[in-house]
Amino acid sequence: MKFFIDTANIEEIREVYELGLLSGVTTNPSLVAKEKDVSFHDRIKEIAALVPGSVSAEVISLDAEGMIREGKELAAIAPNITVKVPMTPDGLKAVAAFSKEGIKTNVTLIFSANQALLAARAGATYVSPFLGRLDDIGQNGLDLISTISEIFAVHGLETEIIAASIRNPIHVTEAALRGAHIATIPYKVLLGLFHHPLTDKGIEGFLKDWNSRTNA
Ligand code: E4P
Repeated sequence: MKFFIDTANIEEIREVYELGLLSGVTTNPSLVAKEKDVSFHDRIKEIAALVPGSVSAEVISLDAEGMIREGKELAAIAPNITVKVPMTPDGLKAVAAFSKEGIKTNVTLIFSANQALLAARAGATYVSPFLGRLDDIGQNGLDLISTISEIFAVHGLETEIIAASIRNPIHVTEAALRGAHIATIPYKVLLGLFHHPLTDKGIEGFLKDWNSRTNA
């Protein structure tokens, strides 16, 4: 499973990119709205120049025509832009049009296996099932990853699964185990994955022993 970061904040992206493990970035209108001093297009351009992998930028229009127009503008920003489209009939119409033109797409707000299957058949490059938001309403987000994963494998679908709306480290481990190709993870959760108290204690112990050598 590859790691994407789920943020539009350039400092967070730079810091994680420098760790050498980042394969892409996802943004959404809510994340972009938190970035006050920069235009949407400028920020997407900045991110796409920094990270060589897929950078998802979401359209705002709700009709296919508007999504196609917006998506083409976004795709023209950089070759690594993926156009993020909501899971609606118009969204999938736009996905089919983008697919014919070789523009990569990420179908977002996926909450059922049927939605994922429809998006894959429309030609989506990625589908984004939202784990956390399903858990929030008492449904099992991780089970959805397993189901989509199995359906895509049975039918030989090449659309990649991005585990989204990740809230904690268990989501990350389980998404990997259940066949998600990618997890898009918020900055704080991603950095939290590095830590274990026994790692910290181990380093402290090794250094203490090293420094206590008498015949160095
Ligand atoms: C994914 O592409 C979305 O941007 C994101 O994961 C949504 O997460 P949230 O449910 O924490 O807002």
